[in-house]
Amino acid sequence: MSSYPPLNVAVHTPRLSLLGATDELLERLVPVVREGVVTEAPWPFDDPMSLYEDNPQREWRWLRGVWAGRAKVSETFWRLYFVVVADGSPVGMQDLIGNEFAAFGKVDSFSWLAPAARGRGLGKEMRQAVLHLAFEGLGARLAASDAFADNHASNHVSESLGYRPNGVDWATHRGSPAELRRWLLTREDWTTRRRRDITLSGVAECLPVLGIG
Ligand SMILES: CC(C)(COP(=O)(O)OP(=O)(O)OC[C@H]1O[C@@H](n2cnc3c(N)ncnc32)[C@H](O)[C@@H]1OP(=O)(O)O)[C@@H](O)C(=O)NCCC(=O)NCCS
Repeated sequence: MSSYPPLNVAVHTPRLSLLGATDELLERLVPVVREGVVTEAPWPFDDPMSLYEDNPQREWRWLRGVWAGRAKVSETFWRLYFVVVADGSPVGMQDLIGNEFAAFGKVDSFSWLAPAARGRGLGKEMRQAVLHLAFEGLGARLAASDAFADNHASNHVSESLGYRPNGVDWATHRGSPAELRRWLLTREDWTTRRRRDITLSGVAECLPVLGIG
């Protein structure tokens, strides 16, 4: 157990766990990140993203990004970093982001799975896990997501979990502009699909850190 509550938050589903990204778990994820460099289209990430680079510095940059994000926690902005563990092995990351959460009750999420772990339903399962944390654990009212239009897996995860289309946006990937599809899931729509086999731990202790009263 850590003395810092966000690192003790965990979400368990029958297939995987989201565990607060401690340094020990990040270390175990480094080889997965090393193998996960994206070298061809479709490019899933907006710029800058260290997973496009194939050099040793990208692992340091990835670690620094997580450390900086973990440290930058306030009542107006926070990002919870989770390592996704399936069958005892770290296979990816699932983050939950709150921007002015107290005012809007809205969260965003970011997902990344090792290429070898994709296409087996884990992406959908980890999104359901983090949505359970957001709506059940933190009392969220809305969950947003976006993905480049050619990121079929991410867009399909959103659509199949009840998010509704919420317009488009633009971002660059690898320096070129590309269209993003935006999605929004309301608490009401989540409630009709919510699962009963997902459990949370360590959430109550974390609420004051995130400014949730
Ligand atoms: C996005 C990501 C997390 C999804 O995880 P995944 O394990 O590949 O997805 P799943 O196996 O859970 O599939 C979810 C749904 O998408 C569909 N799907 C998966 N890959 C697909 C593809 N390439 N094209 C079309 N549909 C696809 C599946 O059939 C499934 O649909 P269903 O529930 O109707 O059967 C994963 O692909 C990933 O890490 N991609 C790279 C990083 C990324 O794009 N992150 C998001 C940035 S916004």
